[in-house]
Amino acid sequence: MLTRLLLIAVMAGLAQPVLAEGDPDRGRVIAFTCMGCHGIPYYQNVYPTYTVPKIGGQTHGYIVSSLKAYRSGERRHPTMQAQANTLSDQDIQDVAAYFVSLTEERS
Ligand code: HEC
Repeated sequence: MLTRLLLIAVMAGLAQPVLAEGDPDRGRVIAFTCMGCHGIPYYQNVYPTYTVPKIGGQTHGYIVSSLKAYRSGERRHPTMQAQANTLSDQDIQDVAAYFVSLTEERS
């Protein structure tokens, strides 16, 4: 499964020419909803005992392909599928750019 996701990530990276890096400023607004669950360095997770993967530290391509896999139903998780269903392709690019920019600034 991981190998398949990585392959999708690589292909998605090759297939997105222009706005592939996304707009982190727009992404910050979209990411507001995500922050309640995802533990980002220097941010508090409101559910310290609830296991949620850290998105900070992952690559742009990985975040984009994960969100698209949830949105298409290829990757099954009710919460994240509900989240991803609200995002357009551009939203996904932008929110991923924001998470990548957090890691670059703070690590
Ligand atoms: C209600 C809590 C919750 C919210 C809100 C939420 N997530 Fe998640 N997210 C999760 C959980 C739980 C998982 C692990 C799901 C799984 O096992 O597949 C996850 C998984 C992910 C993954 C895959 C991480 C990995 O290591 O494979 C990404 C990327 C992600 N979320 C991005 C987002 C983004 C972007 C938003 C905001 C639009 C968001 N999430 C909002 C709970 C949440």
